[in-house]
Amino acid sequence: MSLISEFTRIKKAGKRQYENAKGKPLSLIEEITWGQKPFDAQDDAENMVIHGDNKEVMKTLLSEYDMAGKVKMIYIDPPFFSKADYDAVVKAGGENIRHLAYADKWEKGLSSYLKMLTARLYLMRDLLAEDGLIWVHLDWHAAHYVKVFMDEIFGEKNFVNEIIWTYKSGGSSKRHFSRKHDTILVYSKTAKYDFFPQQEKSYNRQLKPYHFRGVKEYKDEVGWYTLVGMKDVWNIDMVGRTSSERTGYATQKPEQLLLRMMESCTKEGDLCADFFCGSGTLAAVAASRNRRFIACDAGELAVESTIGRLAKGNTSFRVFEAGKRDGGSRLNVKVGLEVEPFPASDKVLLRVRLLSLSERGLEKSVDEKMRETVRRIAREKPLDMVSSWSVDFEFNDADGIHRPDLVLTRTKGDLPDFCEKIADGPCRIRVKIVDIFGNSTYERMEYEG
Ligand SMILES: C[S@@+](CC[C@H](N)C(=O)[O-])C[C@H]1O[C@@H](n2cnc3c(N)ncnc32)[C@H](O)[C@@H]1O
Repeated sequence: MSLISEFTRIKKAGKRQYENAKGKPLSLIEEITWGQKPFDAQDDAENMVIHGDNKEVMKTLLSEYDMAGKVKMIYIDPPFFSKADYDAVVKAGGENIRHLAYADKWEKGLSSYLKMLTARLYLMRDLLAEDGLIWVHLDWHAAHYVKVFMDEIFGEKNFVNEIIWTYKSGGSSKRHFSRKHDTILVYSKTAKYDFFPQQEKSYNRQLKPYHFRGVKEYKDEVGWYTLVGMKDVWNIDMVGRTSSERTGYATQKPEQLLLRMMESCTKEGDLCADFFCGSGTLAAVAASRNRRFIACDAGELAVESTIGRLAKGNTSFRVFEAGKRDGGSRLNVKVGLEVEPFPASDKVLLRVRLLSLSERGLEKSVDEKMRETVRRIAREKPLDMVSSWSVDFEFNDADGIHRPDLVLTRTKGDLPDFCEKIADGPCRIRVKIVDIFGNSTYERMEYEG
């Protein structure tokens, strides 16, 4: 059966999934604040990172958090129906460790992919503000089919743009032209959407000045140019191997790309959301431009990559788990507590030290080929298996929320193995350790005072 004859059935099934969607309660598990007031419990739209399936999460945001019509910009970069697995690549013990970041395989074919996306697009329409824009990032595999469903869900008249993002990276073929672009479909919810036009350089012919009356001209190292309204074909490089932006997460998108979208449709303070957030590119850009964000992903590695990336940028945010809280404890780690008294004072210096991480449990995250390498590195350089760790020196047993004083992440490959705090009384300490595969574990310690 051709896909066109299935369209109505797919739309109905997607809509049914949307109508029957059940939310899962969001448990607050972590709160990271940097020299800022703690979060106001009422302000629920304040910088959220959420681990869970986005259908359940969006349903909960709508039904429990009153977020209908509150999101000014939605960007999604879902699986593309590429029928491939995507690896994350991390360096440990001098080796590149590859492991599955997420799968984009659809046993039941394109129609099951379209149903999945359709149900979620309906939920996004409910979350989108009347003056907001939604940006759906796809490529040649499914963009043309999804466009038809977006016309149906958002209305043909609300189609705003088809952005072509073109880049140099990737392979070539002897059977077709090199595929060097992705497609981003942009829709509004109403005709009243906000749009802030951007400008770009347009180089003069022969790079010489024109001297037209009333036309402002500029010169850079290439030559003379004028500023024109930005076009819908964007030439932006992919995140390079040595770029400081690089997280190692598969299919990470460049911040420059997100920045362009964000600046064209939001102002400071607006709420932006990405429900397939991967390594958290939208959240990182939103934080850097004083926008609020919601970042959701079903994968632990994605969520931990987002947390580490935001913490590195000193962003304050909260982390939620959709459904039951997961206690972690899947790694076998040792942490130590050293206490140094200050002479002639009641105060002490508490030093938490990361001591070791056993190989047990680690190798389950990689396939057969990588297993021996992972075991060896875990034995020889165990701390290379840690991607980040954080310490809450005043852990509150009553609410069980991890509120780290410090989040330690890698800089140019190096991870600090201790952290300190001055204390003047007893402390309950909780340490969170995250391995390079996104598994996390919590360890508890006490200083009796
Ligand atoms: C293409 S990646 C996103 C990459 C991201 N834009 C970045 O810059 O890092 C797609 C992500 O969608 C997530 N995902 C797939 N299905 C999901 C679902 N139902 N709910 C939440 N996340 C999902 C995957 O785990 C993966 O991280």
